[in-house]
This record gives sequence, C-alpha cells and structure tokens, in this order.
Amino acid sequence: MKERLDSILSSAKEDISACENETSMNVVKSKYLGKQSEFTSIMKEMGNLSSEEKKSIGMLTNSFRNEFNVCFDKRLGEIKNRELNKKLENERIDISLPGKCIKTGSLHPLTLIREDLEDLFVSMGYDVVEGPQVETDDNCFEKLNIPKDHPARDMQDTFYITEEMLLRSQTSSVQVRTMLGNKDKTPIRMVCPGKVYRRDNDDATHSHQFMQMEGLVVDKNISLADLKGTLLEMARALLGKNTNVRFRPSYFGFTEPSYEVDVTCFKCGGKGCALCKNIGWIEILGSGMVHPNVLKMCGYDPEKYTGFAFGVGLERLAMFKYGITDLRHLYTGDVRFLDNFNRKDVE
Ligand code: DAH
Repeated sequence: MKERLDSILSSAKEDISACENETSMNVVKSKYLGKQSEFTSIMKEMGNLSSEEKKSIGMLTNSFRNEFNVCFDKRLGEIKNRELNKKLENERIDISLPGKCIKTGSLHPLTLIREDLEDLFVSMGYDVVEGPQVETDDNCFEKLNIPKDHPARDMQDTFYITEEMLLRSQTSSVQVRTMLGNKDKTPIRMVCPGKVYRRDNDDATHSHQFMQMEGLVVDKNISLADLKGTLLEMARALLGKNTNVRFRPSYFGFTEPSYEVDVTCFKCGGKGCALCKNIGWIEILGSGMVHPNVLKMCGYDPEKYTGFAFGVGLERLAMFKYGITDLRHLYTGDVRFLDNFNRKDVE
C-alpha cells in the first residue's frame, strides 16, 4: 500500500510542479484527491480492513494528504505570487510623471470692465441697480424728454416689439425707473450696467447688442463740477492716473447742457498715434446735467434738485483698455481670444 501511495504522490508532485496557473492546479487537485481519484478508491477500500490495518493505512493516507497539500500550497503560492508581480508590473504608476493640465476659465473682458467700474462707484457711495432689457417706450424715450416724432429718436434705431414695448436702446431708461421708483424723492446715486440693443449691422466697431453703464446722481446743489470730477476719477481709475478728460458740447434730450467726453489716448498719452487716429483724444461717453423736464416727469422738483447723468459703452472701453481691434471677438466666445485674459493653466 505504501508503495502505491508513494508512486501516486511522486506522480502528483510532478504534475503539481508542471502547473503554470490556478486552473491547472484545480485540475490536478481533483485528479489526485477528487471522487474519481485512486486515492479516494483507496480510502473507500479501507472500509473492508481490520481495525489494525485501518490504523496503519490511515496513517499512510494522512501523511499522503499532508504531503500533497504542502506541495500543492507551495506551488499555488508561487503561481499567485508570479501573477501578482505580473499585474503590478503592468499596472505600474510612475508618480514622477507630470499631471494632466486642467484649463480653468477666466472672467470675460466685459465682466472685468464692469466689475472695475462697479467697484469704483460703490467705493464712492453709489448703488448698483438693474433694469429690464424689454422696456416701455415711455421709460426709454418719453420720460427722457424725447417725445415721439422728435428727431433725436433717429439717433438710436430701436427694435420695437409693439408700439409701446421695445428692446431698450440705452440704459438711460433706468434713470427714469430709479427716479419714479424712489417714492420719497430722496437723493440718488446709482450706476446701472446692462445690455442694450440697436438695429445695426455687425462689424468690427458695431454690434446690434452691446453693454452700457448708466450713472445718475440727483441731489441738492449738484453741479457740472461734480460731473467733471466724477468722470475724471473714473477715467483715471480705469485707464491710468495720467489720463485727462475733455468735455465737448453735444445734444441728448435728457440732459442740458450735454457733453461728449473724451479721454487722452492711453497709448500715446495724447501725442497722437494710430489708436486715437492722431487726435490724441478718444471719445468714451455721453453725459450732462439732468434736464429739468426729466426731473419733473419723474417726480423731482427741478427748483430744488439738480443732477448729472452719464452713459458709457463698455465694449469701447474694453477695446481701448485691452487693445482689442474687432468688437466681434467680445461675442464669439473663441477660447483662444479669452485665453488672453488671466486664463491660467492649473496642474
Ligand atoms: N444714452 C446715451 C446713448 O446711448 C448716452 C448718454 C448720454 C447717457 C448722456 C446719459 C447722458 O446718461 O447723460 O447714446
């Protein structure tokens, strides 16, 4: 019996050491210990033996099983180890490799300009207010002293929705809303940034949709000096402290007197260059003293109150400040263009 078991064991050992993976190990196991194996039939035969024989054969079968298991587990360990190493090798991570770049967004140049202006005016005690883009003709024109059929309406080619409703062509409409909305008729200091619309063909310097920021101050004893000081402060904060302003007489229905305001070209400082077309000055906004008719129509007594107002185009400011030559870049959302504005690559 011992020879029989020894010979099974030695052939089992050969088979075990020939195994290269877990599947073949399982095959070997059932070949030598499974139901059909010679070992199992030996175990079955033991039933017919005397108890003396059972004891000695039992010791032999036990030691067979033990030796088989030791051998089997050793080889299985080797195989598992080898597979683990292979896996580790294949899935190796080089932690010294550079990471992938994640591109983050940045603020749009128009947002930068708007926020700069808001910060500046808030620091001077102004409120930042909003108004709707779909407006009434009354707020956008009538109460701004531009009645129907007035030639000044031609200055702004407006998108009408109905006879009375339109897409606002100027943020000046928010002047009216603010004054009418202030029931106690207390002093006002506000700026209002927002989109406006005009029937225009889009090109490098025109757009049917653009941004303005309106400013309105109403109080006792407000004079042109206040307007001038405020706009000088604004120009210097935005374009540099050597910037100067000049006021040219102009016409707007809702201000009297009215002015167009130029700033010294921030590129050449006023000497004349391609940017300012050799004039040394660049026009940036319209302004003036609030017309008494407007104050009256909005419930303020022009005998007691005076005020100033201004409206500035943000695209124009952004173009000058950042040297943008085509206004359309501000609306087409090309990432290569936006990349120029503080876009940082984060690793
Ligand atoms: N609303 C004018 C425009 O769009 C700009 C303007 C001029 C605004 C004079 C004002 C102002 O508040 O006082 O052309």
